[in-house]
Amino acid sequence: MADEERRNDIDALLAEHRTFPPPDEFKRDALVADTDLYDEASSDDEGFWARQASELLDWTTEWTTILEWDLPNAKWFVGGELNVSANCLDRHVDAGLGDKIAIHWEGEPGDTRTITYAELHADVQRFANVLKGLGVAKGDRVNIYLPMIPEAAVAMLACARIGAPHSVVFGGFSSQSLADRIDDAQAKLLVTADGGYRRGDVFALKPAADEAVAKSSTIEHIVVVRRGENDVEMVEGRDHWYHELMAEADAECPPEPMDSEDLLFLLYTSGTTGKPKGIMHSTGGYLTHVTYTHKYVFDFHPDTDVFWCTADVGWVTGHSYIVYGPMANGATQVMYEGVPNHPGNDRFWDIVEKYKVTILYTAPTAIRTFMKWGPEEPAKHDLSSLRLLGTVGEPINPEAWMWYHTHIGGERCPIVDTWWQTETGGIMISPLPGATTTKPGSATFPVPGVSAEVIDDAGRTVERGGGYLTLTRPWPGMTRGIWGDPERFYDTYWSRFEGRYFAGDGARVDDDGYFWVLGRIDDVMNVSGHRISTSEVESALVSHPAVAEAAVVGANDPTSGQAIIAYVTTRGSATVGVEELRAHCADQIGAIAKPKTIYFTPDLPKTRSGKIMRRLLRDVAEGRNLGDTTTLADATVVDELQRRATETPPEE
Ligand code: WTA
Repeated sequence: MADEERRNDIDALLAEHRTFPPPDEFKRDALVADTDLYDEASSDDEGFWARQASELLDWTTEWTTILEWDLPNAKWFVGGELNVSANCLDRHVDAGLGDKIAIHWEGEPGDTRTITYAELHADVQRFANVLKGLGVAKGDRVNIYLPMIPEAAVAMLACARIGAPHSVVFGGFSSQSLADRIDDAQAKLLVTADGGYRRGDVFALKPAADEAVAKSSTIEHIVVVRRGENDVEMVEGRDHWYHELMAEADAECPPEPMDSEDLLFLLYTSGTTGKPKGIMHSTGGYLTHVTYTHKYVFDFHPDTDVFWCTADVGWVTGHSYIVYGPMANGATQVMYEGVPNHPGNDRFWDIVEKYKVTILYTAPTAIRTFMKWGPEEPAKHDLSSLRLLGTVGEPINPEAWMWYHTHIGGERCPIVDTWWQTETGGIMISPLPGATTTKPGSATFPVPGVSAEVIDDAGRTVERGGGYLTLTRPWPGMTRGIWGDPERFYDTYWSRFEGRYFAGDGARVDDDGYFWVLGRIDDVMNVSGHRISTSEVESALVSHPAVAEAAVVGANDPTSGQAIIAYVTTRGSATVGVEELRAHCADQIGAIAKPKTIYFTPDLPKTRSGKIMRRLLRDVAEGRNLGDTTTLADATVVDELQRRATETPPEE
């Protein structure tokens, strides 16, 4: 992080003196209202996690060792066996909760489905049998490329039931991204849909799935859920309608006993190199972590709460806090298919009122968008059912926090700002809402069982001030590595600081010991809460025949957190339009990777060793005075760029 950026952040934060102790009314029924959990975990974290694992989950075989730790490889609850889908479904049905609503599903056009635990249980078993019937066996990988429909949860849980790891690819990714992920995972089967709804229109998924399967080499069958009712081509023998297979399938499929360390899923995420990483998550440790955090961070009361996490199942938040954590806790939850502004800008508040949502978990980028639309939108609805709010995905600025507190939380709901990552599996730093005094913009403290520390360049602990955010002890939900690339796992996360996990965020510790996460300090951008690597977008740009070289940076953006800014040099006399290049990025990666602004430049600022100086480009993009340019090979290049940035309006 550039020094001046850090100073700005710190100045802004120093002005933040507001504190919010847990309201008495909230505290009265809170699961945790004191420091007991913290005390227990800090005296024996392994014993603490073991207690959570045995109290929160059903195991078919007891473990023999809590933790085997051989950096960077952790094994939790070694020798234990359990099945994730049995923990999310069977045990609730067996306990007489079959009629309890698992999912209030709301389609974007306004159609709804109410699904009980018994129904979900039956569907998951049917789909597990469908998978087996199509040749999927324990250990085989299954790709899932679906809109936000209940079948996404059914498919994931069915995979978990038979021990076939899933790899969910966000429905907004392009066919090329899907093909790359299929190939990397060597997936055998793909679950997709004809299409889904987005902002009033049907977006087709099946054609992209077809293209991806043509470009990749391992898919034997495609199962297609009917949702959009758009016309699709079905390839005889390869493609099958979900509803036809389900109608024939047996609703009984016993859960496969899985080893605690067996792979539950892969989820691809951006790193600092162009190639997405298949982040591996285990069975017993992961489920313990997400069930525990869902219960205590959200102060979850299964009999009265209605939980709504607005993430897409294609991201880790959807895995951990729509499917696995809430369902292991027997939650009733809302699942919504579409965008927040269809048919009106008050759709979310309409849903909160309709289902009497008590806990809402969303992203700062969404909150900033709601701020733009104005407080009159939530004011149209009765939001009095809400009792707790959460955020995730990027730093929340204090203004957005205060707006959320005032206009959504009615000044009565605690806010849990939860810091975590795809790699951590579950929440790591967050208030416990009945126990922690919050400060707007701070994720506060590591949750009980988690050990985090801010350190300086030399690896020394920073007691007060800014530095690198690291984790000092293994935790159950931690990734078990990168699929097919154990060395990259060590190099990426464990090599920078000895004995510590570091995944690219800067943070500051204030005078009261609160953590303030400042955001990414590596070459990964955070656009609307989604991680996108600069090099991935650069590779996409350079794959266009007219482009010779490209540099991409994330620049501060009032709505999306960071916006993608690209600097492009064309080949010889080739010309290409901005829109064409943006469309090309959408085609290669997905619409989320479209640069907001593209500048054409005859040259890029480079060091004498040829490294592109992204820091300077960020300064240009954010309109800052340039610092030291003496290491540049050709200082006139940035002068020219600055002239263009100020004289020519950016091409958006
Ligand atoms: C950022 C999403 C500040 C951070 C669960 C992290 C946050 C990256 C917060 C992980 C937060 C997530 N405050 N920053 N509360 N939550 N981040 O893998 O930069 O999609 O490294 O996981 O999001 O993004 P990922």
